[in-house]
Amino acid sequence: MKRIGVLISGGGTNLQALIDKQGTVLKSGKIVCVCSNNSKAYGLERAKNAGIATKVIRKNADCGGDNDEFNRQICAYMKEMDVDVIVLAGFLAILGGDLLKEYANKIVNIHPSLIPSFCGDGFYGLKVHQAALDYGVKVTGATAHLVNEITDGGRILLQKAVYIEDGDTPEILQKRVMEQAEWIILPQAVELVCADMV
Ligand code: GAR
Repeated sequence: MKRIGVLISGGGTNLQALIDKQGTVLKSGKIVCVCSNNSKAYGLERAKNAGIATKVIRKNADCGGDNDEFNRQICAYMKEMDVDVIVLAGFLAILGGDLLKEYANKIVNIHPSLIPSFCGDGFYGLKVHQAALDYGVKVTGATAHLVNEITDGGRILLQKAVYIEDGDTPEILQKRVMEQAEWIILPQAVELVCADMV
């Protein structure tokens, strides 16, 4: 059984999907801790409700705004918790440095578009869906991928398409992409990594 550490920044619905799929889709790993870079993230409550250890590490308040220190502290916490696989479940900061080396091919991210569309620096959360609607694409979706030093540039593990509908707003589209794609493929992709199938 692999030990999973989840990094979040907000609502944590993808974290909830992982918690709910433990023992069924997610059979080869167990969530042992949740770390947030935002002390107000509702995902922290979801973790506490599931009896999972939590920690807050904020880049400005705890690391003096230093990105290397931020990554060092996250890496130290993952090591302290004996984590094997890291999941970025709506984690809206960019990782770098030794953490990426220590956990090469062991970090999974969920991105709310079909990479290589609408991804890279500056594309996160509702901005991704706004960009898809502005462009006028008819199909979008979600991508679960491995994390390397290129933002949203690591190896793709799973993708799922979602149709855009008349009257979509970024909020409506975000909800449909979560329900029809993210919450399904993220637990499946994490299972692939935990089962050493990638
Ligand atoms: C999700 O839509 C996730 O794909 C996105 O943030 C949202 C977090 O929601 N992540 C990115 O945009 C990463 N570039 P959640 O906190 O409810 O899981």
